[in-house]
Amino acid sequence: MDKIVIEGGTPLNGTVKMSGAKNAVLPILAATLLTQGRNIIKGVPKVRDVATMIKLLEDLGAKLESYSNEKIVIDTSKADNPEAPYDLVSTMRASCLVLGPLLARLGKARVSLPGGCAIGERPIDLHIKGLEAMGAKITLEQGYVQGKADRLKGIQFYFDTVSVTGTANLIMAAVLAEGETILENAAKEPEVVFLADILNQVGAKISGHGTDIITIQGTSSLKPIECTIFPDRIETGTFMIAAAITKGDVTIENCNPQHVEPITLKLQEAQADVEISKNKIRVKGKDIIDSVNAKTHPYPGFPTDIQAQFMALMTLAQGQSIIVETVFENRFMHVAELKRMGADISLDGHTAIIKGVKSLSGAPLMATDLRASASLVLAAVAAKGQSIISRVYHIDRGYVGIEKKLSKLGAQIRRIK
Ligand code: EPZ
Repeated sequence: MDKIVIEGGTPLNGTVKMSGAKNAVLPILAATLLTQGRNIIKGVPKVRDVATMIKLLEDLGAKLESYSNEKIVIDTSKADNPEAPYDLVSTMRASCLVLGPLLARLGKARVSLPGGCAIGERPIDLHIKGLEAMGAKITLEQGYVQGKADRLKGIQFYFDTVSVTGTANLIMAAVLAEGETILENAAKEPEVVFLADILNQVGAKISGHGTDIITIQGTSSLKPIECTIFPDRIETGTFMIAAAITKGDVTIENCNPQHVEPITLKLQEAQADVEISKNKIRVKGKDIIDSVNAKTHPYPGFPTDIQAQFMALMTLAQGQSIIVETVFENRFMHVAELKRMGADISLDGHTAIIKGVKSLSGAPLMATDLRASASLVLAAVAAKGQSIISRVYHIDRGYVGIEKKLSKLGAQIRRIK
């Protein structure tokens, strides 16, 4: 298994280009099952989760015609296998995104229940409840969700918890259903808005996306998808924090400043300089980092996917900061590792109390989940001395060549096999 070796303490300087948004491309790939033909998706980040989703689509009968230079051409005309196997789904929870499209396309689906993961149990009860309300007969057997539906029917459905992939799944089920579907307390993430916009481009009739209430008029068929994925807002936030934590001066190109407003605000509160232009953000870190409180919320609130990275910054802030994680029940896996580097953090349920320290010291570290690993990388580039991070496959799920991008900014970082 690969490891990443980091000699910390170098301020990061220069420019870095963001890659496409992983969490935008996964639902789009699942949505290709709603079409019969050649789908073309550009701006695709080369990360493990994308490779996993492509493998899953091929198992369902889709044909990958090409995948190079961030462009995927995948033909779904012969995608007629309704079964998503355990060995794939268990490695990526987002595989559950094929449930809605399979029921819409084939009237049947057999998708392994996603295992829990490090950050929490992450059930898909709301996905199932919504699909059952649309007329699917769903049973859970041998760890598989088994669904059957002649034709899904439009419904009015209320999400009692905002769910990003839950909203995406029900949108995809509803676009080919009979009649009108209204989704209430829907997710407003840019990745959901993008999915709805692209589906509208190929014949769907969706409105209200980006607000709490999304309305979908079912239609009979969709044309193949052609689209370009927008830049990853979580990668953007991660590099913004990298500039602040190393007191560097970094210009982030190919990004969407509007998608990272909550992060910009928090960094400005922490006294970093953040300059916004059309598709660039320049972040200059300061010698003194002010402590800032943060509470995670669904979009447009402060993103849970940035919580761990922001906590790394707060470990070096002046004074005490409080971070509350409201979305997942166990998303503090990075805390123990940060404390091994000398951070002063105490946990009380969903609340972390961070007392800033003068410096962190490098240490051997273990990655546990995607964003916790990013947090450890940020802490390590800012720490004094060497860190060796193992289980970096977690980080490869969602970041394209993070060590290459950081070393281009001057970080002393390398990957060892
Ligand atoms: C998406 O996960 C993202 N993944 C996650 O990013 C992100 O952290 C999360 O949204 C929140 O923003 C993808 O888009 C592929 P949820 P998702 O359904 O959709 C509970 C990363 O780092 N819930 O919005 O799985 C759930 O347990 C990943 O890229 C139910 O109880 O998250 C959680 O506490 C990590 N029942 C909360 O809702 C359900 O049926 C939000 O989950 C569904 C969700």
